[in-house]
Amino acid sequence: MSDPGAADAADASAFERVGGEAAVRALVDRFYDLMDLEPGYAALRAVHGETLERARDRLFWFLCGWLGGPQHYVERFGHPRLRARHLPFAIGIRERDQWLACMNQAMHERGLDQGLAQRLHEAFFNTADWMRNRGG
Ligand code: HEM
Repeated sequence: MSDPGAADAADASAFERVGGEAAVRALVDRFYDLMDLEPGYAALRAVHGETLERARDRLFWFLCGWLGGPQHYVERFGHPRLRARHLPFAIGIRERDQWLACMNQAMHERGLDQGLAQRLHEAFFNTADWMRNRGG
């Protein structure tokens, strides 16, 4: 007999595996707190404006949908057009790698399952790499 609990787990979206909306918000908040606090992410922080409040809300809304949950971002702003929206910011390898390291640290600190975190890291890498708009 199949185990209905196991089937549910296999079918769960990344959104559910992260822990739903409150957990996505906590992950995003940790990500931006680390960006503000850690000297290793200073180049990434410098690309951002004075406050990170707008970025916190928008990345939270975006990630809910990107992980397979509610489409808060698309409902508010339409198609994300992420590459176009990042063109005003100079993004090279250094900024990309700091973004990914900051997100990895946030996922680790929030206690995401390691396999899930690895899978998300690969997906984040592809998105972040595609956002690069200058060399170096
Ligand atoms: C590659 C390095 C990245 C850098 C340096 C970067 C930087 C920024 C900056 C400076 C903003 C503007 C924040 C504001 O409006 O106050 C922003 C917005 C945003 N970023 Fe990134 N970002 C990067 C990668 C990513 C990735 C990988 C994602 C998604 C997985 C992402 C999702 C977003 C979203 C959804 C917004 C809000 C866009 C809007 O509606 O205006 N970013 N980012």
